[in-house]
Amino acid sequence: MDELVALCKRRGFIFQSADIYGGLQGAYDFGPLGVELKNNIKQSWWDSMIYESDNIEGLDSSILTNPLVLRYSGHEDTFSDPLVDCKECKSRFREDQIIDKKCSNCGSDNLTEARPFNLMFKTGVGPIEDQDSYAYLRPETAQQIFTNFKNIIDSTSKSIPFGIAQIGKAFRNEITPRNFIFRVREFEQMELEYFVYPGDDDEAHDSWVQKRLSWWCEQGVPIENIELYDVPKEELAHYSKKTIDLMYKFPHGIEELEGIANRTDFDLGSHSKKQDELNIKANVLNNKDSNSKLAVQDETGKWVVPYVIEPSAGVERGFLAILNEAFTVEDLNDGKQRTVLKLKPHLSPVKVAVIPLKKNDDQMVNHTRSLIQEIKKLKIGRVIFENTGNIGKSYRKHDEIGTPICITVDFETLENGTVTIRDRDSMNQTRVDSEGLKEYINNKIKS
Ligand code: GAP
Repeated sequence: MDELVALCKRRGFIFQSADIYGGLQGAYDFGPLGVELKNNIKQSWWDSMIYESDNIEGLDSSILTNPLVLRYSGHEDTFSDPLVDCKECKSRFREDQIIDKKCSNCGSDNLTEARPFNLMFKTGVGPIEDQDSYAYLRPETAQQIFTNFKNIIDSTSKSIPFGIAQIGKAFRNEITPRNFIFRVREFEQMELEYFVYPGDDDEAHDSWVQKRLSWWCEQGVPIENIELYDVPKEELAHYSKKTIDLMYKFPHGIEELEGIANRTDFDLGSHSKKQDELNIKANVLNNKDSNSKLAVQDETGKWVVPYVIEPSAGVERGFLAILNEAFTVEDLNDGKQRTVLKLKPHLSPVKVAVIPLKKNDDQMVNHTRSLIQEIKKLKIGRVIFENTGNIGKSYRKHDEIGTPICITVDFETLENGTVTIRDRDSMNQTRVDSEGLKEYINNKIKS
């Protein structure tokens, strides 16, 4: 973990938030390379959910959440961790993180009984500060998917089975944020709510577990490094009938990367009941057969509240797993070592670095600049100009940040237009003309 943290800071992937003021615990900022990698992970998830499927729609809902949503979803009552205080040094812990019933700060066993600590962040809304003018920062992106269920059905004419996918920030006031970006207070989730008829839920659940394993594998996290954990009944979230956690061997231990839950009709059902109550009160429930607002009619015309399968992955945990898998230290023939991030090319923050052999040679530098403009037309992501005048040093840097292709412009380029391509993983170098270059780049990055 220390090596990953150091690399992230040194190369501009991740910084502690507000570190010039001593930081803010559980909050991190993604730097120039981090934001690229994060966006690429999210784009890959979005592609697989929205563009590669026929029956999933996207959503970007508000982070500020009406408290009623989280009251009827059960979060106000149950979204808590057991908090224990040390009476001696006043440290606070999650009960399950205490070893041998002793404070991990001072060693005292003078601890309070555990009490529930709600993890939701509350914030004031509007200019008047009173106890009714508040909203929550959403603790999961899922709830606004449920509250938009009807809007999306009505506007897209989707029928069961279908899904709604969303990527966005979630906030949890974790008692003990820890392990770099693994457990933080502000993070992003990639969540799919996949609606099926009751009875079809078990099969859909199994199928989503397999699909998600394949996706992680395509991102460079091999299936053999993921364990499936069938969450025991007593550990299930209040909404879940069954949850399979994808457990990954993070640098600090095996922990949850993604959870795939069968949330049954719990959420749509709870919001529906409330909607019915409100409608009956307002006397606007015009369809007597509809016993619920967030329901669909099956082929017999009966109103049914769908079940939902939810694959929910944290972007930060994915980032850490992908980085951990890609991080490699290799011995070289000259007795030295190189650090190389063997990221899948579609995830690499920089796709191509173009390096002139001589940094002060105007002709070479100008040629490099115009070549970069040509490569940018391929729309592959970041292409950068690396004018250090030291090819070896540039290669080392780009190995370390995972750039799959380095291109060198030299004297021969000025004569016949050919360039040298250097492959990150094999370190093989090949000379190609401009057509060969485009083909190579397209094959490598888009494959
Ligand atoms: N909607 C379901 C849900 O939120 P969860 O297991 O609490 O379920 C889903 O969270 C995923 O969100 C986790 O598998 C994890 O990847 C990520 N996650 C949860 N809490 C996190 C935290 N404090 N820091 C970073 N990621 C977190």
